[in-house]
Amino acid sequence: MSLGYVIGESKPTFVTALTSRPLSVGEYVIIDTNEGKILGLVEKSKISSAAFADVRNFDEAAESTEIAEINKRDKTFTANIGILGFLDKLSKGQSIIPAIPPIPGTEISQPSKNELELIFSSSKEGWVKIGSLLRNKTIEAKINLDKIVSRHLGILAMTGMGKSNLVSLITKQIGQLKGTVIIFDYHNDYTSLNIPRINVIDAKINPRLLDADQLSEVLEIRDGANVQQRVLRMAFTKSVKESKEFWSKLENELEFIVNAEDKKLKEIRTSAFRVQDIVEEAQNRFEDILDPDMGDPISFIKEGKTNILNISELSEKQANVALAFYLQQLLKDRKDASLAQHGKSKRERNYRFHSPIFVIIEEAHVFIPKDHDTSAKYWAAKIAREGRKFGLGLGIVSQRPRSVDLNVLSQMGSFAIMKIIQEDDQRQIASATESTSRELISQLTSLNVGDAVLVGQWTNLPSLVHVDEVKEKVMGSDQSAVNAWANAEKMNEIAVESTQGLIQKDLLLD
Ligand SMILES: Nc1ncnc2c1ncn2[C@@H]1O[C@H](COP(=O)(O)OP(=O)(O)OP(=O)(O)O)[C@@H](O)[C@H]1O
Ligand SMILES: [Mg+2]
Repeated sequence: MSLGYVIGESKPTFVTALTSRPLSVGEYVIIDTNEGKILGLVEKSKISSAAFADVRNFDEAAESTEIAEINKRDKTFTANIGILGFLDKLSKGQSIIPAIPPIPGTEISQPSKNELELIFSSSKEGWVKIGSLLRNKTIEAKINLDKIVSRHLGILAMTGMGKSNLVSLITKQIGQLKGTVIIFDYHNDYTSLNIPRINVIDAKINPRLLDADQLSEVLEIRDGANVQQRVLRMAFTKSVKESKEFWSKLENELEFIVNAEDKKLKEIRTSAFRVQDIVEEAQNRFEDILDPDMGDPISFIKEGKTNILNISELSEKQANVALAFYLQQLLKDRKDASLAQHGKSKRERNYRFHSPIFVIIEEAHVFIPKDHDTSAKYWAAKIAREGRKFGLGLGIVSQRPRSVDLNVLSQMGSFAIMKIIQEDDQRQIASATESTSRELISQLTSLNVGDAVLVGQWTNLPSLVHVDEVKEKVMGSDQSAVNAWANAEKMNEIAVESTQGLIQKDLLLD
């Protein structure tokens, strides 16, 4: 269907068109050149009226409405259209810009459903549906799962805008393909996700597998308490790690330091006492978290399943240590598997996972922060750089993109970005993504819940979509305070009534 014509000065990347109806911003159009069909995206849309061009007062404005109504030619619809590339190349994921700008007079038309589907709903293997195009609702929006496992994914948005919903959706899709997903669930958001092949694990830490610095972190020895840290390092010997009775052996070692008559050890006695207290206290306080007899934590993760690692009971520091541990072990396992599978390894290698894994880190600004180093950040950065070679994909999710390490963020090959208002966040996203998507990023403030800008390698073209809602996700929805208060009030009334009933009964019995 013809929509209009290219006018004025055109460029290889940009044309202006006059059209028969106003075009919506974000709408796709076809520019039909001699070299082939070009896909364009409406970036700006203007409507002007000749009758109102020179209006200076109310009466003139009132008269102009009548003139405008009669005159069919009164309205001018102008659209600024960005050129995305040749249609046939775009369906192969290549954006080829024409060498010669579209000549003024070139026809602009509406793309057929089929033409848009070639680009946005690829039927190739590995592409799965995650929603529909925001401005062309009948077109399914599909993404290439292979690309997020090989080149990583960032999901960024303000709180409550649909990040976890998208994570659930992607997870569900990978689950259907019997792939392995691991979600580090810091807010206990996914344990009630009602999909098949789910494996919920309450994350624990095996203190035997840590080094002294990590143990000091999980025991929550203060950052600056250098002497206490030194005491722990002395006490946390190989024989403690290998002892059947881990805690008593550690306590024995500390007792030895406390009682030592050696002059140097005497100096640190006070700190040693304190560490003794900390270790004793930790056994109660962290009974459910620190378990020397749990064996290898990785063995709880099941291949071919959606593994939800519930880290909500862990403190931030403990979660950080746990995360670093898992990430390090997973990378090692996938490395060993790849070396063995490609026959590159001379020695026998043991590995658990035979196929690629997708790991999702929620609250990435906590674990992969911009302004300081954490061990989780170290391993996440390593996976971001090397994971591709070994089939270990990383998904990082955050509502504070400005506080996520830019190094790691810019290693993400694809992004889903939902509503974001803060300019710092937008700037960080613009630095982490390619410059082509800046135009879409400027639209971030106006998105609604579940709307997302998709950029990067998992789509053929940057696109604006509405993500499907995952019905199997029970948790995470906004709580209605008003409802809850009303219910609480009702419960109170019932409680009062029943106690009054009891009191009256008591009185009667008297
Ligand atoms: N695509 C969608 N369509 C309709 N509703 C949605 C969509 N995505 C999310 N929602 C709704 O928005 C609410 C918040 O979604 P979600 O928990 O995914 O947000 P979030 O970005 O993860 O928030 P937080 O930052 O708090 O973790 C939920 O109640 C969910 O039902
Ligand atoms: Mg969430």
